[in-house]
Amino acid sequence: MDKFLVQGGHHLSGTVTVSGAKNASLALMPAALLASGTFHLRNTPKLRDVTTMSSLLKSMGMKITFKDHELTLDTSTVQKHEAPYQHVKKMRASIYVLGPLVARFGRAKVSLPGGCAWGPRPVNLHIQGLQKLGAEIEMKRGYIHASAKRLKGARIQFDVSSVGATGNILMAATLAKGTTTIENAAIEPEITSLAEFLLAMGAKIDGIGTNRLEIEGVDELHTADVTTIPDRIEAGTFLVAAAMTGGSVTLDQVNPEHLKAVLVKLEDAGCRITLGPTSIALQAPNELRPVDVTASIYPGFPTDMQAQWIALMCVAKGTSVVTDTIYLDRFKHVPELQRLGAEVTMKENSAIVKGSRQLMGATVMSTDLRASASLILAGLVAEGTTEVLRVYHIDRGYEAIEVKLRQLGASIERAAGEEY
Ligand code: EPZ
Repeated sequence: MDKFLVQGGHHLSGTVTVSGAKNASLALMPAALLASGTFHLRNTPKLRDVTTMSSLLKSMGMKITFKDHELTLDTSTVQKHEAPYQHVKKMRASIYVLGPLVARFGRAKVSLPGGCAWGPRPVNLHIQGLQKLGAEIEMKRGYIHASAKRLKGARIQFDVSSVGATGNILMAATLAKGTTTIENAAIEPEITSLAEFLLAMGAKIDGIGTNRLEIEGVDELHTADVTTIPDRIEAGTFLVAAAMTGGSVTLDQVNPEHLKAVLVKLEDAGCRITLGPTSIALQAPNELRPVDVTASIYPGFPTDMQAQWIALMCVAKGTSVVTDTIYLDRFKHVPELQRLGAEVTMKENSAIVKGSRQLMGATVMSTDLRASASLILAGLVAEGTTEVLRVYHIDRGYEAIEVKLRQLGASIERAAGEEY
């Protein structure tokens, strides 16, 4: 398994292009199951998770090619309606095929995703939503067996705001008979981009971008093409890298609208931010101010930026509190950051971070995607060499992160790691 060797102490400067959004692609790809024909998904990021989703969809019979960041999907040969455990265990977003399969083919057999590095990841809202739409659901030997002659529109209320469940039920409702309303729908930009893609496919959806979606089911959808929105979490990660290293960095092909909560907090920490229609420029301060953050649903501060923010606060001048209200135990990065000398103590779902003058390089272990990002960020400022192991985690969600960081002046190399 590969590792990264990071030499600390380099200020980042220059311009970097942000890739397409992983969490948009992972919804757009299964959405193609809803119609027969050829789709083009432009600006798709080159990521492990996209490859995993591609291999799952190919196992169903979909023909997929990927060239110059454009995915071409031919769904006319889809004939299997299963998501086996070997795919789903690698990526829980595989559950996104459930709604489209039941809606278009009337049946699906999808493995339960199991947990992830930071604990259980339930899918009860996905299942309850489909049952409300009239699907027969049976849980058998770790699989969800779903079937329906034709889904029927229903009124659905999510007690918890869920990106995945909103996406799954939204996709299923487009082909249901009658009207479906989804109350307390997630409004993350990736869901808005999915809804706009479904509109382009001929779906009838009102309330896009709001917590109340109304879908008028149709008998058939057709193909469409789409340009994937920029990845707001990759963008936020590079802004934090610039802020931590006292740098001056411009991001290109980004949508500042999607990052408002992060930009406000970076300004509170002393960064100077300049916005263009598709660019963000950050000038770091000489000294970072401590800033408390509470990760919450969109448009709040994203949980996917919580680990990166803790890394930033490790080098701020003072103490800050970073709380996650989405995943109460998403803190596997804290013990690894402590190995670099970070002074962080946990109190339930809050990390109390005492900013220290200097982190010291060490060998650290990636446990999940955003945790590995926070370890690389810390390595950029730690004295000496930081070895980040098991970087396959980071390859899931960041396209060639070491290449982009080197373009900005970082000293980071990929090396073959020990087999475990
Ligand atoms: C999506 O996961 C993202 N993944 C996650 O990004 C992100 O952290 C998360 O949304 C929150 O923003 C993709 O889009 C592929 P949820 P998802 O359903 O859909 C609870 C990354 O790093 N819940 O919005 O799985 C759940 O436990 C990844 O890119 C239920 O209780 O998240 C959590 O507390 C990590 N029952 C809350 O809802 C359900 O049926 C939000 O989860 C579903 C979710």
